[in-house]
Amino acid sequence: MKFDIRDIKLANKGKLRIEWAKEQMPVLNLIKKEFQKNKPLKNIRISCCLHVTTETANLAQTLKAGGADVVLCASNPLSTQDDVAASLVKDCGIPVFAINGEDNKTYYKHIKSALDHRPAITMDDGADLVSAVHSERTELLKDIIGGSEETTTGIIRLRSLEKKGLLRFPMIAVNDADTKHLFDNRYGTGQSTIDGIIRATNILLAGCNFVVSGYGWCGRGVAAKAKGMGANVIVTEIDPLKALEAVMDGFSVMSGLDAARKADVFVSVTGDISVIDERHFKVMKDGVIICNSGHFNVEIDIKALEKLSKKKRKIKDFVEEYTLKDGRRINLLGEGRLINLAAAEGHPACVMDMSFANQALCAEFMVKNSSKLDKKVYKVPEKIDRRISRLKLTSMGVKIDTLTQEQKKYLASWEMGT
Ligand code: ADE
Repeated sequence: MKFDIRDIKLANKGKLRIEWAKEQMPVLNLIKKEFQKNKPLKNIRISCCLHVTTETANLAQTLKAGGADVVLCASNPLSTQDDVAASLVKDCGIPVFAINGEDNKTYYKHIKSALDHRPAITMDDGADLVSAVHSERTELLKDIIGGSEETTTGIIRLRSLEKKGLLRFPMIAVNDADTKHLFDNRYGTGQSTIDGIIRATNILLAGCNFVVSGYGWCGRGVAAKAKGMGANVIVTEIDPLKALEAVMDGFSVMSGLDAARKADVFVSVTGDISVIDERHFKVMKDGVIICNSGHFNVEIDIKALEKLSKKKRKIKDFVEEYTLKDGRRINLLGEGRLINLAAAEGHPACVMDMSFANQALCAEFMVKNSSKLDKKVYKVPEKIDRRISRLKLTSMGVKIDTLTQEQKKYLASWEMGT
């Protein structure tokens, strides 16, 4: 078996941590049991490009239990948990190509290795596999029945391919399932971003000016959690509707430049490029902390920061201090890569449970419906989304009501008023 990981000797530590996460993933565990019995993915080759974490390990094991032949590479050079990679290889026989801190060349070499598996299904977090298949590995297209995408940024890339008429196989937008983005993006990114900032810096959030750029589901989560810890939260937006929501959710909303002047901490969660750039660096306070929690490391213009700086030094893990020519210092966290996975452990297993339940059930759906799917970006079937919310509630011991016959009739009628 081919693989490329840091150190196989880390496997024991990884195995225990994977088990720890499993405890918080009851929905995925249930699907795993079903998969073990029915083998819906029998002999299906799946290449996954996901963050190599304890939660992903549980997904990979679920797919394997369903009969799939799975390989895994990293979807970010800094998010790999090396002990998890080791355990997947040693204890589960799943090939992994991922090493924490790998350079860009190795990162793309690992993507290539995952594609050498000749997948029938691709599973992406950020669309790097799909992008490579469409540009450099078109010979693989004939074997691919479909793919799924985990994150907002990846779906933006897929929609661009679809709009330009270039998408060559069906894709399912897992991110857009309600049981994904309403929980993973909001509560998962919210909590883990704060966790990453605190682990990297140990700053007190109470009383600090905490700027969040972007008020999508991730931005909302980060803003809400920072507010909960007593920060004075400022939101910047380009979408008037989202800006209005942020105002009515009780946040100060202002331009990025005005926010940059006030920020003690500045987090970008937009999915776009150069959100924090030269204009902002020029007005920031001495000692400001800047970081990114969007998928790619493009949100902070690090090249511009380097150009403006006369000195750079590593203060501690995940903190680099840039001294500008005028003497002000800007602290960049986690090389501008997503701070929740670089400096912390990513989203907690409890929310990844629903995200990865979607991934597993969508893989099954693609196999069952491969002949009916076109080269389009599909929503997660409503039935899957609903089922996951019900299973999650049951696992939490939460009971809900059902409509009475009278209520059903009322909701279906137009005749009845008061
Ligand atoms: N994305 C964000 N958090 C994650 C996690 N814990 N595992 C896999 N992917 C993630």
